[in-house]
Amino acid sequence: MIIYKAKNYSDMSRKAANIISAQIIMKPNCVLGLATGSSPMGTYQQLIDWYKKDDLDFAKVTTINLDEYKGLAPNNTQSYRYFMDTNLFNRINIDKNRTFVPDGLESDSEKACNDYDRIISCSGGIDLQLLGLGHNGHIGFNEPGTAFEKGTHCVDLTETTITANKRFFSSEKEVPRQAYTMGIKSIMQARKILVIVSGEDKAPILKEVLQGPITPSVPASILQLHNDVTIVADEAALSLV
Ligand code: GLP
Repeated sequence: MIIYKAKNYSDMSRKAANIISAQIIMKPNCVLGLATGSSPMGTYQQLIDWYKKDDLDFAKVTTINLDEYKGLAPNNTQSYRYFMDTNLFNRINIDKNRTFVPDGLESDSEKACNDYDRIISCSGGIDLQLLGLGHNGHIGFNEPGTAFEKGTHCVDLTETTITANKRFFSSEKEVPRQAYTMGIKSIMQARKILVIVSGEDKAPILKEVLQGPITPSVPASILQLHNDVTIVADEAALSLV
């Protein structure tokens, strides 16, 4: 595991974008696993800036997102599809047909998850998976207690996650209670994993993830067993490590 200490959020974002752009330059038809949330926004902005300067070409890139709220349509402003379109896809030269997010409108969970697992395997596997870290150690929407062996599945979100994510909705009532998420197994099958973490509020969980026991109660702790993980975290997030 490689840990890069960044000065702050923007330094973290630039370092993470450097790693992603290296991946795209080395393999222009690579498969990127992407994340939502506030952590990757700066990284995506940096990638857009480099694309505008002609330093990056997304024409052959495929992307597979980690998760989506069950019940939200792609054009719902709180959906992860909408987040990805507005924060990245609409602003680079990616072929939208090669950008995948679980289908929030598929009410048959088994079908939604099997379809998504098929998309992941048909893509040839994820070359670089970008991850944020939830305050309770979740990755994607794999909440504490999730079996490490799972592929894409439907989850009941925990109260901590609903509370943390309510800032994006007009009220807590509107936060969906379920989501489709890539499983830990799918995440661990990615060839490389890049985790970005920022802020003092993430310091206690980052310490557990890096130095604590490997346990389903801290889903991200499994990353200790992956052979190609890079953590880019700012000083605040690394303050307890
Ligand atoms: C959300 C997402 C995760 C994200 C995490 C951290 O619930 N499902 O993919 O990484 O929580 O979010 P943030 O980066 O906003 O702290």
